[in-house]
Amino acid sequence: MTDSLILADRPDLFERPGLFERLDAQPADSLLAIIAMVDADPRPEKIDLGVGVYKDAVGNTPILRCVKAAERILLDTQRTKAYLGSDGDIRFTALMKEMVFGADSADGDRITGLQTPGGCGALRLGAELIKAAGSGARIFVGQPTWPNHVPLIGSVGLPFVDYLYYDTQSQKICFDNMVDALEEARAGDIVLVHGCCHNPTGADLDLDQWRALADLVARRGLVPFVDLAYQGLGHGLEADVRGARLLVEAADQALVAHSNDKNFGLYRERTGSLFVKASNPDMAEVVAGNLKVMARTIWSMPPDHGAAIVRIVLDTPDLAADWNAELKEMCARIRSLRSRLAASDPRLAYIERQNGMFSILPLGPQAVADLRDNEAIYIAGSGRFNVAGLSDANVDRFAAAVIARLPADG
Ligand code: LMR
Repeated sequence: MTDSLILADRPDLFERPGLFERLDAQPADSLLAIIAMVDADPRPEKIDLGVGVYKDAVGNTPILRCVKAAERILLDTQRTKAYLGSDGDIRFTALMKEMVFGADSADGDRITGLQTPGGCGALRLGAELIKAAGSGARIFVGQPTWPNHVPLIGSVGLPFVDYLYYDTQSQKICFDNMVDALEEARAGDIVLVHGCCHNPTGADLDLDQWRALADLVARRGLVPFVDLAYQGLGHGLEADVRGARLLVEAADQALVAHSNDKNFGLYRERTGSLFVKASNPDMAEVVAGNLKVMARTIWSMPPDHGAAIVRIVLDTPDLAADWNAELKEMCARIRSLRSRLAASDPRLAYIERQNGMFSILPLGPQAVADLRDNEAIYIAGSGRFNVAGLSDANVDRFAAAVIARLPADG
């Protein structure tokens, strides 16, 4: 008897609800939805300051010279596409370890790492590790934060404790509030922090604040989870990790999710790595084994192309020098756009003191919609805008449109 005959004899099977009927319809991701809205807008003067993608002076997001050169080398020299394994490109991860922690890190043998699909993959894998460790840790997160942080990390079932990190009215970090919140954390709780170029506010801790946070974390036995997605785009490669290094050095255990999607302009290639500092080298080995098994059950192995490019660039002195120059150029351009905006109105002066791709404008949802509908200017609903998305031709029009909508005393 064939399967179809059996099914014909069992009409009750067809009366059950379909497999997917209990799923709720989902809204589009708040940031990624802007990509589609901009694409659908026919107005030639439109300005897209939604998702964090760097644009040059004429508004393009070109592939970096060093990346193109590395791709040519890869095309000519790669002899196989055979699997590498769940930890990906080991040389790439070693290079990233040095970029994040420095060549002279005293913690070297306590830090293990592996390649991940972008910073998102690193955050997710870190969350899986924390969950699997089963300590009952909670994640302390300063708000506002990147809108995907809580869904991405929370999807493994970890609980969050929110505190106010930044006040969008005064445009200042609420550091005392952060300290008060973390004084309530239990030993082993996780402190999620942005290593540099805070997303969405652009407001980073200063070195004294990093030191105070490092002391607090060490004293209370907390575990930093550093999201480092913009290294090099704030004040430079080394300056941007100074605070995070202090924090990781002070902590007995820590996690760092690193991304090359922005600093190599590799966005869609999803190039990242996760590093975990354990209490001792033996425990680091155990963590490494767990990470590989977890990666195997989620994505099996990370995509190779982006990591291979980064490895080739950094292992080829001419290309590494060119990458440094291109990164400095991106960083300098963002800083000059920040200065230009700050000079356009005293109420925007704070933008110059902030770092990286994003800052928040004191504009409510109505003003954000008004910018979109009447000026063809797209920013996130939170008031976050991508500074790095402005071109020389549209920065003044953007500033004027924003200034016209700022609250009088804002
Ligand atoms: C952003 O915040 O715009 C970027 O990190 C892109 C993303 O994945 O949301």
